Amino acid sequence: MILIANSEAWPGFEKSVELLQQNAHGIDAMVAGITEVEREVKVRSVGYGGWPNMLGKMELDAGVMDGTTRDVGAVGAVPDTLPVAALAREVMRRLPHVMLTGDGARRFATEIGFPLDDVLFDDSKRVWWQRLEKELSPAQLAAFPDIALAPLSRAITDPERVRDTTVFLSKDMASGIHAATSTSGWAWKYPGRLGDSPIAGAGFYADSRYGAAACTHTGEMTIRCGTARSIVLALRFGYSLREAVDMAIDDLAELDTGFLAGVVVHAIDAAGNHDVASFRCPGEIKYWFWEPQLSKPELRIARQYDPRPTTQRGNA
Ligand code: GLY
Repeated sequence: MILIANSEAWPGFEKSVELLQQNAHGIDAMVAGITEVEREVKVRSVGYGGWPNMLGKMELDAGVMDGTTRDVGAVGAVPDTLPVAALAREVMRRLPHVMLTGDGARRFATEIGFPLDDVLFDDSKRVWWQRLEKELSPAQLAAFPDIALAPLSRAITDPERVRDTTVFLSKDMASGIHAATSTSGWAWKYPGRLGDSPIAGAGFYADSRYGAAACTHTGEMTIRCGTARSIVLALRFGYSLREAVDMAIDDLAELDTGFLAGVVVHAIDAAGNHDVASFRCPGEIKYWFWEPQLSKPELRIARQYDPRPTTQRGNA
C-alpha cells in the first residue's frame, strides 16, 4: 500500500490512511480524506476555504479515477455544492457519463441528495470584493457584473498565486492504483473556467497495471500537455518513474506561448515507488507520504525538476 498527496491534504490525509489500513477501496479512502480537506477553511484552494470566480461565485472542480477499471467521474465548475470529490465519485458510479459541469452537475447533486450550499466563505467574499474595488473604476463597479470580464482575467491574479488543488494517489490493499482531486481552481477565474483537476489525462490519471499521476498548480499547462496520462503511458513503455515524470515535465518546459507558470507533478508506480517534482514553483514544495512501514504519515520535500539538454529529452 502507498498514499501520497500534496501538502494541502493535511486535514484529511490521516483519515485516508486509516481507511486504507482497514482495507477500504482506494477511491473511498481518498474521497473521505478529501472531504475533510474541502471542509477546512484554512486550505485556501479547495472547498470552503477556496476562492470564488470573478463574479464572486464558487465553482468547484473534482475528479476520481479507478485505475483497475479505468472508470472516471468528474465534475467541473459546480456551483453551490460540497463535498465535490464525493459528487465526482457518484458521477462515476451512477451515470453512463464521465463528467458533468455547471448547472447539470448541480441538478444531479440535488437528485442524489447533496444539499444546496453556496460554499462561499465570508473572508473569501471580502477579499474578492476588495480586489474588484482596487481594479475597477467607480462606473464599472456601479455597472458590475454587467461589464466585460475578459480584460479582468489578465489584470486580477490569484491571491495564492499558484492555482492550487488537493491531489491524492493511492495503491490499496487489493493493489488497485487510483487518483482523486478537488479544487476551487484559479481565484477570480472567468466564470466557467475549468482547470486540470476534473480533466482525466491532464490533472489526474490512474492505471493499476502501471501507476498513477496527478498535478497541482497551472492547469492551463497540464491540459495542453496531457501531463498525467503522459506519465502513465511512459511507465507502460518501460521508463522508470523518474524518467516518466521528467519526460512529462520536458513537454511543459517546451511550452512558450499562453499562460505559463509553475506545476507540481505527483506520481506513483505499480512497484510502490513514488516521485514528486516541482517545476518553476518558487520555494520548497512539500507533500504527504505514507506506506505501512511508517508509524505515521511524513511531510516530505519534493525534488526540483532539473532541465536536461533538449537532445536527451524523450530518450530519458
Ligand atoms: N491545478 C488546478 C487548476 O488549474 O485549477
